[in-house]
Amino acid sequence: MSKKLLLILLVFSMLFVFGACGKTEEPVKTPAGEPTESPAAEEGKLAEIKAKGKIVLGTSADYPPYEFHKLIDGKDEIVGFDIEIAKIIAEELGVDLEIVDMKFEGLIAALVTNDVDMVIAGMEATEERAESVDFSIPYYQANQRMVVRAENKDEYKEPEDLVGKPVGAQKGTTQERFVVEMYPESQFVGLSKITDLVLELQNNKIDAVVLAEPVAKSYVEQNTDLYLAEIDLGKEDPASIAFNKGNEDLVEAINPILEKIINDGTIDRLMSEATLLADEE
Ligand code: ARG
Repeated sequence: MSKKLLLILLVFSMLFVFGACGKTEEPVKTPAGEPTESPAAEEGKLAEIKAKGKIVLGTSADYPPYEFHKLIDGKDEIVGFDIEIAKIIAEELGVDLEIVDMKFEGLIAALVTNDVDMVIAGMEATEERAESVDFSIPYYQANQRMVVRAENKDEYKEPEDLVGKPVGAQKGTTQERFVVEMYPESQFVGLSKITDLVLELQNNKIDAVVLAEPVAKSYVEQNTDLYLAEIDLGKEDPASIAFNKGNEDLVEAINPILEKIINDGTIDRLMSEATLLADEE
């Protein structure tokens, strides 16, 4: 709404400038009912978060070591690399952290409807997503990898070996797009939860699952019947934090926090710790 107002103001100020240039022309008309003073400065997202004393994180916790469920002292908790980053952000902003777990494909909508304040879910800042949401700087780089059944490990050595085979990826992800574009002849299976894709793979329903490398490694580590194929898919999977549009103040507050933890090595340490946590049992 404030964008609309701004646009109207801009159009009128341009009319005014043009009007002023052509003094002999008709005088510029001021439409009736137009507010005379500029709209009150908006409070901003950052102020709103500080006022409510918490920042709400949206994530999809089937993505170890980024975010996953773990029993800690008998209690189910959402933990991982992204969660530690969210904790640092909350602490820097001086607020509590609330975590909302949902399907990955619902995260962008949750931002747009302001149900969550930020999304940290190993999400790539794609052009398509940037039409509906804004992104922070990338905080982590990974490669796309493929998980196959251990018994098939010698069958899958080159990207071509997957042609015509049933391949799975999580719905709404860049992996889904990648598989559909790279393997048009393959039978694509898209599911909302990676845990279900892994079951499909173990039950011979599909032959491979495309995942970001740390996630692929984590599932292989947990399941001895799975294998990390030595295929170089030649595709990266960078991760950024997503925000609803119009929350520039929040993005500007968070980018320097990310820069700091990237540069001082905290990010790499958090990834190693989260990997150990995901692999231990
Ligand atoms: N990096 C991929 C993407 O941006 C997949 C992310 C999936 N994240 C998750 N928490 N399941 O689409």
